[in-house]
Formats: sequence, C-alpha cells, structure tokens
Amino acid sequence: MAVRLSAMSLMLGTLLLALASISTTSLAARVIVGDSAHWTFGYNYTEWANKSSPFYQNDTLVFMYDPPNSTTFPHSVYLMKNLRSFIACDLRKAKLVANVLQGGGDGFEFVLKKRKPHYFACGERNGIHCSVGLMKFAVLPLRRCHG
Ligand SMILES: *[C@@H]1O[C@H](CO)[C@@H](O)[C@H](O)[C@H]1NC(C)=O
Ligand SMILES: *[C@@H]1O[C@H](CO)[C@@H](O)[C@H](O)[C@H]1NC(C)=O
Ligand SMILES: *[C@@H]1O[C@H](CO)[C@@H](O)[C@H](O)[C@H]1NC(C)=O
Ligand SMILES: *[C@@H]1O[C@H](CO)[C@@H](O)[C@H](O)[C@H]1NC(C)=O
Repeated sequence: MAVRLSAMSLMLGTLLLALASISTTSLAARVIVGDSAHWTFGYNYTEWANKSSPFYQNDTLVFMYDPPNSTTFPHSVYLMKNLRSFIACDLRKAKLVANVLQGGGDGFEFVLKKRKPHYFACGERNGIHCSVGLMKFAVLPLRRCHG
C-alpha cells in the first residue's frame, strides 16, 4: 500500500512538473522576426512589428539570416541608443548584439527582458540596410498579465 501510494505521488509529481513546464514555456512567445521573410533587405519591419505587436516581457525575438557568401549580403543586429538615432539610422552609439555570422542555423535569439523601448536595426553598409533596406523596428515589451 505504502509503495503504491508513493508511486502514485511520484506520478502526480511528474505530471505537475510537466504541466508547470508547459505553462512557463507557453507564456513567453518565440517570434521569428519578419516571419517567413526572416531578417532581410527591403522587407518592411515597421509594418511587421506593428502587425505582430503587442510583445511581452520575456518574449524571444529570433533573427534569422544566412552568413554572407558571394551571393548573400551580410546582415547583423544592433540596438540603437535612442529614438533619434533609430529614426536617423545613425549607428555611432549603437550596440552590436549579433554579428554577421550569428543569424545562421536556428537564428539569433534575443530575449526581451526589460520593459523599455528596444530599437533594433541592421548595422550593415553604414546604415543603408537600416534606411533604404527598412531593416529596423521598435518594440516596447509589455508586462504580461497572469491568468
Ligand atoms: C512601412 O510600413 C509603415 C507602416 O505601415 C509605413 O508607414 C511606411 O510607409 C512603409 N514604408 C515603406 C517604404 O513602404
Ligand atoms: C498599425 O496597424 C494598425 C492596424 O492594425 C493601423 O491602424 C495603424 O495605423 C498601424 N500603425 C502604423 C504606424 O503603421
Ligand atoms: C522573466 O524571466 C526571468 C528569468 O527567467 C524571470 O526571473 C522573470 O520573473 C520573468 N519575468 C516575467 C515578467 O515573466
Ligand atoms: C550562399 O548562401 C546561400 C544561403 O545560405 C546559399 O543558398 C547559396 O548556395 C550560397 N552560395 C554560395 C556561392 O556558396
């Protein structure tokens, strides 16, 4: 009897653990930037961010781009310092978060840990990818309500 009871509580514990991990993983979303277009020149990411919003704290953004070769252009991911440099595609004070090689395979993952504006941009060609290529978007993660 005691053996059966402990076996049952073990099973119950495993079940609860499984449920807990399901609910924590399903709470935070994993979003591919640009959806099937991935992170590429000429796709309107402002529009994408608008239609994909809202984003929540701890959601993961996935930037997917092939490493450069003779036929594909290099891309990267920078965080712009503020709204002004974001609008101007001014990379002077930007922070590199993923280099030209980091978007390959399953992509580069960025977790939106802070509830503050994030200004993402491609840093290649001295801002040309950001301005002409439309490779920029802003995200303000919200607090996720429970329940
Ligand atoms: C990109 O989309 C935004 C938001 O819909 C729009 O205001 C803007 O004009 C678009 N840019 C281009 C170059 O189409
Ligand atoms: C964002 O999308 C909404 C509709 O979903 C639209 O009304 C709004 O004008 C768009 N904002 C921008 C900046 O494009
Ligand atoms: C975000 O994730 C961190 C680390 O996993 C956790 O400590 C924090 O409570 C989470 N915040 C929210 C709002 O889910
Ligand atoms: C360059 O990379 C692209 C995407 O990964 C691939 O399809 C293409 O075959 C590559 N070209 C060369 C010359 O390696």
